[in-house]
Amino acid sequence: MDRLVIRGGKPLCGSASVSGAKNAALPAMAAVLLTSEELRFENVPSLRDVATIERLLMFMGVESRQVAPGTASLTSRAIQRFEVPYDLVRTMRASVLVLGPLLARFGKARVSLPGGCAIGPRPINLHLTGLQEMGAEIDLVDGYVVAKAPRLTGTRVRFETVTVTGTENLMMAATLAKGTTVLENAACEPEVEDLARLLQGMGARVQGAGTSTITIEGVEELKGASHRIIPDRIEAGTLAVAAAITQGDVVIQGCVPEHFEAVTAKLEEAGAAVALDEGGLRIRMANRPRPVDITTAPFPGFATDMQAQIMALMAVAKGKSAITETVFENRFMHVPELLRMGADITVGGRTAVVRGVSLLRGAPVMATDLRASASLVLAGLQARGETVVHRIYHLDRGYEQLEAKIRSLGGEIQRVEG
Ligand code: EPZ
Repeated sequence: MDRLVIRGGKPLCGSASVSGAKNAALPAMAAVLLTSEELRFENVPSLRDVATIERLLMFMGVESRQVAPGTASLTSRAIQRFEVPYDLVRTMRASVLVLGPLLARFGKARVSLPGGCAIGPRPINLHLTGLQEMGAEIDLVDGYVVAKAPRLTGTRVRFETVTVTGTENLMMAATLAKGTTVLENAACEPEVEDLARLLQGMGARVQGAGTSTITIEGVEELKGASHRIIPDRIEAGTLAVAAAITQGDVVIQGCVPEHFEAVTAKLEEAGAAVALDEGGLRIRMANRPRPVDITTAPFPGFATDMQAQIMALMAVAKGKSAITETVFENRFMHVPELLRMGADITVGGRTAVVRGVSLLRGAPVMATDLRASASLVLAGLQARGETVVHRIYHLDRGYEQLEAKIRSLGGEIQRVEG
């Protein structure tokens, strides 16, 4: 298996561009099932998870081709299979995003239940109850969701908990339903808004995306569209923390600052200078960071997908900070690995107390999930000596050429193929 070898201690300087957002590309690609016409996407990141959803869609009968680097054309003229096998869902939970579109256009779907995940049990009950409220018949058979609905019917659905893919699944399902659907306590993430923009381009009647109440008036059919995937705010946030943890000076190009304001506000609180700069956002850190307390929350709160990365920064802060994870039950898998690098962190329930040390030490560490792997890379860039990050297939799921971007900023990082 591939691993990354990192020698820390170099301030990162220069500029790097962010890629398209994984969490916007996945639902957008699933939306191809809503129409028989072509969808063309630009700014599609080259990631393992994107390859997985493409494979899944092709398994069903979708035609997919790469028109140019970063540009994909997808068409679902003739779907032969209406199911997602366990083997695909277990590698990527976001595969459940095909459930809403399949039900809406074809009236049937058989999708494997995702099962547990490193960061928490992550059930999909809210997806299922929402679809049932829209009139779908849903059974769980042999680990599969078997869903039927001659035609979904618009209704009012209130999410008990804010759920990103739950909102996306139901928003897509409602586009072809009979009547109007109102989603309450919906997720407001930029990726949800980006999906709504795509659906509107396909002729859907969606209003209120980006707020907690989304209204969708169903139509008879949807048409083809071209769509540019938004930049990845989590990658942008990760690069911003890389600049801060190495006391560097980096311009993050092509990002949308409003999409990760909660992160940059905390970086400023920790002592970083954050400013708009030609075509991007400039992050500079001249000294050791100050400790700041963090509580994760749905957008516009502090993203849980940035929690591990900011913990690496707080591990070298001048003082004590508390990091509280409210979205997922078990998202501190990176802590034992950071301890191996000399960090001083204690976890109690959903809060980690981090007492900063001046310098981390390089060590062999193990990635456990996508964002945990990013935090280990950041810690390695600050540490004295050599860090080896194993199981970086986790990283490849959601970061496009991260090590090349870090190298272009002067970081010492190499991939060693397994
Ligand atoms: C999306 O996951 C993202 N994935 C995650 O990013 C991200 O961490 C998460 O949103 C939160 O921001 C994609 O967009 C593909 P949720 P999702 O449903 O939609 C509970 C990454 O690193 N819940 O918003 O699966 C759930 O257990 C990944 O890129 C239910 O109880 O997350 C969690 O505690 C990791 N029942 C909370 O809600 C449900 O039916 C929020 O989960 C659905 C969710």
